[in-house]
Amino acid sequence: MQEKILILDFGSQFTQLIARRVRELNIYCEIHPFNKVPEVDASVKGIILSGSPYSVRQDDAPHFEFAKHHKTLPILGVCYGAQYVAHFHGGEVLASSTREYGRANLDFIKPDTILFKDVPLGSQVWMSHGDTIARIADDFEVIASTDSVKVAAYHITGTETYGIQFHPEVTHSIDGKQLLQNFLVDICGCSQDWTPDSFIETTIAELKAKLGDDKVVLGLSGGVDSSVAAVLLHQAIGKNLHCIFVDNGLLRKDEYQSVLDSYQHMGLNIKGIDAKQRFYDALSGLTDPEKKRKAIGRVFIEVFDDAAHEVQGVSWLGQGTIYPDVIESVSVKGPSATIKSHHNVGGLPDFMKLKVVEPLNTLFKDEVRRVGTALGIDPNILGRHPFPGPGLAIRILGDITPEKVDILQQADAIYINNLRSAGVYDKVWQAGAIYLPVQSVGVMGDERTYENVICLRAVESLDGMTADWCHLPYDLLAKISNEIINNVKGINRVVYDISSKPPATIEWE
Ligand code: XMP
Repeated sequence: MQEKILILDFGSQFTQLIARRVRELNIYCEIHPFNKVPEVDASVKGIILSGSPYSVRQDDAPHFEFAKHHKTLPILGVCYGAQYVAHFHGGEVLASSTREYGRANLDFIKPDTILFKDVPLGSQVWMSHGDTIARIADDFEVIASTDSVKVAAYHITGTETYGIQFHPEVTHSIDGKQLLQNFLVDICGCSQDWTPDSFIETTIAELKAKLGDDKVVLGLSGGVDSSVAAVLLHQAIGKNLHCIFVDNGLLRKDEYQSVLDSYQHMGLNIKGIDAKQRFYDALSGLTDPEKKRKAIGRVFIEVFDDAAHEVQGVSWLGQGTIYPDVIESVSVKGPSATIKSHHNVGGLPDFMKLKVVEPLNTLFKDEVRRVGTALGIDPNILGRHPFPGPGLAIRILGDITPEKVDILQQADAIYINNLRSAGVYDKVWQAGAIYLPVQSVGVMGDERTYENVICLRAVESLDGMTADWCHLPYDLLAKISNEIINNVKGINRVVYDISSKPPATIEWE
């Protein structure tokens, strides 16, 4: 049985980060909203309570059944989680006179406390709270303090329940990882054996048991997630996995053929479908980004559905959904408002009547990459920058024509190839060229030109939620600009996007 830690989410922006840290210690964990706690069976080794934007003093403060788990399982309350337990267990939480935010140092640590094993006195911790634990019940003992926060950490005597006012999950808490390890290994008894190899082994066994001789159809995109999902499924059910790769005419230059080739090399049972014209027809005359996205989504479903029907007796749809998509769709606050119509789980319509199998829906992106490496997948596929489903259609501002796609593909290929040869491709989170619907005057030879503008975008990011523009070397930008202007007919000007997200998004549409 896969042992695990439950993380109960009270809505903190750091909840996912706690999960990351736990998993970095090779321990499997799951995030659940505080009000949807799953059945706790023998596989659960401990519970972590997250922080929250709420105050325990608010009428609508989030509650959970602490008494049910207290005394039977180790519990670690972080920030709101610690305040919650203190407040509803005989103590009192008050608004602090000043907001305690930022770095602080532990100037008291109770000697021989397991939670603080190998955490030195003076260790820097990171605080972010408006409330403070003013009073604790008699069975609580203070196990760490800072100069302004007396109850920086507590332990409820006779139990395995601990509370910490600071955030061990952020890197500013220098010994945060050590503290989490102390809780998870020494207190919860976790064995740290959750590795890519163990994940692969368990997942393949589970897929075999779940799917038996059933057939699965899966749409490949050339991206990391669908590729890793496909290889896992392939190892579990072999030729019963039917992969479909659609050329929507909006991929990068030569990408369709090269991706198809590498999938075939991996031994996948894959069918490539050239549907370029169907997409161009559907996009004809559309300029609104959301209308373009919807048209592409609709045609993709039609094309995919036609192809899926050709697989006799198929009963499952495989998807490369990853953990952040799942958390997003069940989060405390519900799915976050749709800013652009993407990132939604389960994009295919009911009429396909297929059961869904998502072998990666417990993994974060970097874990998917590590699993992909352990599966021996081509590093070129694993290291690829994220690329949006609607592809170049949202990098050509305004209406789409095959001519514009061709121009953008050429410019983009020059850009990406230069990033690769300069050795910066892997340092950039995502890069791409954008075709602007703007013409400007130029001069080439003796002739005045009036042609379009290509914008280059490159960002650094961890998850695409926020991003900074990359400071690419000027010489490299100059080389790319020259090559594009000299080789791509129809372009006489190249600009570089220096906007960060927020407020700008990564894609222009
Ligand atoms: P934005 O532009 O919202 O992009 O900052 C964040 C990340 O999402 C990708 N993206 C999409 N992916 N369908 C997708 O599958 C889309 O419609 C879409 N729009 C943006 C974007 O490339 C970036 O990685």
